[in-house]
Amino acid sequence: MWENKVKMKSHSSQDTLFKVTDVITEGWTMSQAYVTLATNDGYAIGALVLGHSLRSNNTTKDLVIMIAPAVSEAIKSMLESVFNKVIIVDVLDSRDSAHLSLLKRPELGVTFTKLHCWTLTQYSKCVFLDADMLCVQNPDDLFSHPELTAVCDIGWPDCFNSGMFVLVPSVDTYGKLLQHAETSGSFDGGDQGLLNSYFPNWQRVSFIYNMVASATYTYLPAYKQFGANAKLVHFLGALKPWQHRYDAGSGSVHTAPGYEHLAPYLNSWWALYNRLVKPGVPEMDLQRALEVKSPVEEVKEIEDQVKVNDSEEEHENTCASDHVYNGDEVAQQLSGLSVAHESLQEGQARWERGEPDYLGRDSFANIQAYIDSKIKNGK
Ligand code: UDP
Ligand code: GLC
Ligand code: MN
Repeated sequence: MWENKVKMKSHSSQDTLFKVTDVITEGWTMSQAYVTLATNDGYAIGALVLGHSLRSNNTTKDLVIMIAPAVSEAIKSMLESVFNKVIIVDVLDSRDSAHLSLLKRPELGVTFTKLHCWTLTQYSKCVFLDADMLCVQNPDDLFSHPELTAVCDIGWPDCFNSGMFVLVPSVDTYGKLLQHAETSGSFDGGDQGLLNSYFPNWQRVSFIYNMVASATYTYLPAYKQFGANAKLVHFLGALKPWQHRYDAGSGSVHTAPGYEHLAPYLNSWWALYNRLVKPGVPEMDLQRALEVKSPVEEVKEIEDQVKVNDSEEEHENTCASDHVYNGDEVAQQLSGLSVAHESLQEGQARWERGEPDYLGRDSFANIQAYIDSKIKNGK
């Protein structure tokens, strides 16, 4: 059912070789690490902020990031300055569009790539963290828990949310997980469905280790009571922190309709991005950053529709594709998603009613095509 999208650069490549010096500096004690994943530059920017937030909270653990070959060299070298190891892995994709459409997140088939964290056998224990998380207090005590420890999912609390989980790397478990993917698949098309069926006896820890940002309004009294204890905040959902619009003038985030309650955490995310990530972001090609975000075929299809609707005059103006944007502009352009929504009257109304149509009009591919058309027209 699942398949390798990109041929392995190889786990035994130079990037992933277990160095003898690691053993010596650890005094032969196997070390422990936080592990995250980014298959493209957008999520890699999220991972940079996550990495800095863990360092700011004085973690004593290694930081490891698994990236796809699609991540640009410029971003990769920034990752190398924050993470102890940057490991290139092949993209594993469930290609399970049926289940992913039930989840309303067609882009999440690639989350099967998370499974590679079981191959990090140079570590005795790891904590996987989604790249859309932010550390607000030191969560190192998670390493005292066994595999598989996680937090309840807010959609179906009998399941765990796979944005954070404690694991013990093992080639044997890795092989069994791949086998499980082959034979049983995933009930949500992503890693969470697969991992929940493979680890039915998972251990629960407090919500403070994977506090979904929307909890701030879904259960406000509990948030007021316990929110200050949060250690890891998770920006779960289709719109990520780097896709909201930041206003440098006011120093705050313009939240997309329906996301206003996330403002305090989005502002924290952007404060860290501005202070620690933005200064180092080199010039990069926006087009490339966007292209790797969703399946090319899907985007192409929508782009074609946009082109048909464009006037011929507008077509003649399509000359801005060689413009090189800097990293901040990339984040801003990605954040232009909220603008895209606002300009579509019907869509905006639906967003305001809290009913985004992620698979239709509000799909990432549609939004992306809209941004592309604006760029091409030099707007
Ligand atoms: N991810 C990725 N590329 C993608 C989609 C997801 O690298 O195109 C990784 C990234 O680490 C991300 C995680 O998989 O945080 C899970 O996806 P996401 O956070 O978007 O899912 P959500 O938590 O919103 O359900
Ligand atoms: C969930 C998790 C995410 C996971 C996705 C796909 O929403 O938050 O980490 O990758 O489902 O299974
Ligand atoms: Mn996530």
